[in-house]
Amino acid sequence: MKPSLPELIVWGGTGNFKVLCELLRADYCILGYFDNNTNIAPEYRGVPCLGNREAFLAWAESNFTAETRGFFTAETQRRGESSGEKKEEKTLRLRASAVKKNVSAVQNPLHFIVSIGPGYGQVRRDVHAELLQHGLLPITAIHRTAFVADNAGVGEGSQIYANATVCVDVQIGRNCIVNTRASIDHECVLEDGATVGPGAVLAGLVHVGENADIYTGAVILPRVRIGAGAVVGAGAVVLKDVPAGAVVVGNPARVLRLRSE
Ligand SMILES: CC(C)(COP(=O)(O)OP(=O)(O)OC[C@H]1O[C@@H](n2cnc3c(N)ncnc32)[C@H](O)[C@@H]1OP(=O)(O)O)[C@@H](O)C(=O)NCCC(=O)NCCS
Repeated sequence: MKPSLPELIVWGGTGNFKVLCELLRADYCILGYFDNNTNIAPEYRGVPCLGNREAFLAWAESNFTAETRGFFTAETQRRGESSGEKKEEKTLRLRASAVKKNVSAVQNPLHFIVSIGPGYGQVRRDVHAELLQHGLLPITAIHRTAFVADNAGVGEGSQIYANATVCVDVQIGRNCIVNTRASIDHECVLEDGATVGPGAVLAGLVHVGENADIYTGAVILPRVRIGAGAVVGAGAVVLKDVPAGAVVVGNPARVLRLRSE
């Protein structure tokens, strides 16, 4: 008998979800997607939209037993008392490990991934943290045509799309997106929530700060550092470090404005 596929929900139902849907269908039974947008499609390729955040809360209430939630809470508190880690990180890590430890106790573990695209790295991270608290299991999504070197690290909730390349000694944090045909060369680091757009090329040893967005077809030269929350416009060629929060465009890339302006 064919084993049934693990079940999964997705947060986010826009274009990024369509790409993810194709990626995930072979490995997961996608129960549906949630999204706060009011103009979201009611279904995509047979996968229903299950509603907004309120609908999610009601759904979570009816899909997880009180006993399971009790385990997470007790385990998190007990283990959280005994070490000196940063509070927020510790809580999230312990929640994740409590979830994993309890898999055997949950008859049908439910997985999740957050599908919120470029420009919203921090929102992706925040929603991921919230869904962890509800006891869902995070996944990492890597397309079957992507190349990921055997010693590259890809963090929880991150997504590597079709024909992307992730070379040796690369470290990709949590909730990152490496889009279609993007290339991340040796020893690059992507911090949590960073996004690399379709066809963008990062030469070796590039460092991308948290929540930064590198858009379609940009090229980043070796050892360049892209600051946290910076935006690299489509087609830009980046020769030198980009300050945190700056939007740069052109060849050679120059600061256009600040992201907050
Ligand atoms: C960089 C970017 C975010 C800037 O957006 P913006 O702040 O709204 O910029 P505007 O459209 O107001 O343009 C402002 C100026 O910058 C120029 N500009 C904008 N994007 C540019 C780019 N990628 N390369 C060169 N110049 C660019 C515009 O021509 C305009 O110049 P002008 O003032 O001389 O007319 C955007 O243009 C971009 O590159 N987005 C990429 C989107 C993408 O790839 N999405 C796919 C995600 S998977």
